[in-house]
Amino acid sequence: MTTPPLAPTPPMGWNSWNCLKGNVNQQAVMDIADAMVKLGLKDLGYEYVVLDDLWHGGRDADGRLFPHPERFPLGMKALADHIHALGLKFGIYSCAGEQTCARQPGSHRHEQIDAETFASWDVDFLKYDYCFAPDDLDAAIRRYTAMGKALQATGRPIMFSFCEWGPRSPWLWARKAGGHLWRVSFDVVDKWSSPRNNSNALGILTALDRMEGLENHAGPGGWNDPDMLIVGLHGKGAMEGGGCTMTEYRTQFAMWCMLAAPLMLGCDLRNLAKEDLELISNRDLIGLDQDPLGKQAFRVQRDGCGEVWLKPLQGGKAAVAFLNRAEHPHTLSATWKTLGLENRPAAVRDLWDQRELAVGDALSVELLPHETKVFMLA
Ligand code: GLA
Repeated sequence: MTTPPLAPTPPMGWNSWNCLKGNVNQQAVMDIADAMVKLGLKDLGYEYVVLDDLWHGGRDADGRLFPHPERFPLGMKALADHIHALGLKFGIYSCAGEQTCARQPGSHRHEQIDAETFASWDVDFLKYDYCFAPDDLDAAIRRYTAMGKALQATGRPIMFSFCEWGPRSPWLWARKAGGHLWRVSFDVVDKWSSPRNNSNALGILTALDRMEGLENHAGPGGWNDPDMLIVGLHGKGAMEGGGCTMTEYRTQFAMWCMLAAPLMLGCDLRNLAKEDLELISNRDLIGLDQDPLGKQAFRVQRDGCGEVWLKPLQGGKAAVAFLNRAEHPHTLSATWKTLGLENRPAAVRDLWDQRELAVGDALSVELLPHETKVFMLA
């Protein structure tokens, strides 16, 4: 029997970095995995529980990585077993440099032994960073390919997540190097927007802009990744940025779904407000993200502060998002022609308010500052 291809739709799950950073530990991760099931998130498709940087203890005398002994007293296999017993999948982090971004042992020149170690821990997902590594494209391709091959050689299906941040256009070569998703931007922190030249702490809008024009590179088996969801952080956790409004978090979630982005939560699921849970549980939006056609939305209209994005869906349907970037309310209109439709659609459904709209000659939408509204056209 052949194994099904990985990442037919964008992966969904949770990653430790935004909430726990250097305090990542066995108990917290087990509790968060338990919460993923209890809150119904597993049933909605959230599946991967990923340990980011700083899980490490070091390398032993044989050159094998081992986890931090106090924070992971039972070891990684036991943690993987707990996660698998819940029906979830287990992810881990390493780096193509000699050290990780937080100066832990990296996998450069240890690709084979590290891939074998991860496989022996029953790892299902590897996020692979690019700190302390050479700038040039050839070196990056070589280093990611080396780990890609080492993972394949283990015989275990392991989803391979590139974290090269975009400077070497990984969307052009990641699939060939074994990747299933690749970051297109530096880290998204807990804020709405950031100056364009501040390259390594982006706001929601700045990361969104990085996705524009990359739509042809995403599809089943390989996804552009504008980084994790900051939804639910509210200025808490380990992530800088200071927090966003609920409207802004809604915009991130809606646009990430439009973009067929990986949906990796970063908030503390042990302690989640009702409105955050409702947001990340929005079935209609998740359905857009997970649509089997796997199309990333593209921008069809921009008028200074307003934008309209379109996502083709399976069965000839489409989703359209209206986004207001401005600090003031704004009304945006799009004709069916701008949306690429020959005729007016038979039905238009507002996915936030869960109601059908009367179909006229165009779609006109009133938006609050930083608000996004999403409609399904059938
Ligand atoms: C880089 C990555 C982040 C995170 C940290 C860990 O900055 O972009 O997502 O993994 O490293 O050190």
